[in-house]
Amino acid sequence: MSYEMITARTEGGKVGVVTLNRPKQLNALNNQLMDELGHALKGFDADAAIGCVIVTGSEKAFAAGADIGAMATYGFADVYKGDYITRNWETIRSIRKPVIAAVSGFALGGGCELAMMCDFIIAADNARFGQPEIKLGIIPGAGGTQRLPRAVGKAKAMDMALTGRMMDATEAERAGLVSRVVALDKLMDEALGAALMICDYSQIAVMAAKESVNRAFEGSLSDGIMFERRLFHAMFATTDQKEGMDAFVNKRKPEFKNQ
Ligand code: HXC
Repeated sequence: MSYEMITARTEGGKVGVVTLNRPKQLNALNNQLMDELGHALKGFDADAAIGCVIVTGSEKAFAAGADIGAMATYGFADVYKGDYITRNWETIRSIRKPVIAAVSGFALGGGCELAMMCDFIIAADNARFGQPEIKLGIIPGAGGTQRLPRAVGKAKAMDMALTGRMMDATEAERAGLVSRVVALDKLMDEALGAALMICDYSQIAVMAAKESVNRAFEGSLSDGIMFERRLFHAMFATTDQKEGMDAFVNKRKPEFKNQ
């Protein structure tokens, strides 16, 4: 599949980088872009050489939301039957390898939801997050009302969803929406550094850690703890656990085989 609305490349042979590429529309998310993004992510997920994926946008916009022009004339039957706008979001959620959002500029509406769907967000100091759908007479439709409260708590999530105001990078880091804030010109270096670090670990342990953290948001504490415990036990069936611990004991660098 050739891409028109994204670019996809690899870094160091092990990190997949997807760049949203509709700069004139501030990377507004339309069906084609979402299809291309889903295709690229699935491709990286299936590629054994890839250990981590970064999703990023332009300096001015990670993504300014779903394409309002495209949505403007839709009726209920169109969106319900055709799965327009909301299609492919579940594909992104199903990616098993870590996905880092490297966000600069606007991450609004579906753009903010896309960033939150990634495993963690590294933000440039010019990043601005928001769920402004209320201004358009709608509400967030790709998990914004669910993931934002889990990330920043009810008070801020209500504030964002009901007023439509934006949160800058400093506030987003303070609130727990983003894991790190860096200068704009250091954004990709920081994201790549994190991705390459992850790639050096056992892919099995990395995927299990991702699954287990995600479980924290989907059930009770006791279910989550049991899920984590069983995955933890399962790690002892891997060659990588033997290698990691032997390397520590013998003061050498581990060489994980993802087995
Ligand atoms: C379509 C968009 C767009 C969007 C910007 N553009 N956001 N086109 N859909 N979401 C276009 C503008 O129309 C304009 O095109 C060009 O990008 C540059 O935008 P400007 O407004 O001129 O830039 P600026 O003044 O810097 O303002 C930036 C902005 C503003 C604050 C981000 O564009 C804005 O408020 N955009 C809408 C944000 C929003 O409401 N997002 C939520 C969408 S609903 P032209 O051709 O005029 O140059 C949603 C639901 C998700 O996301 C549901 C998921 C399932």
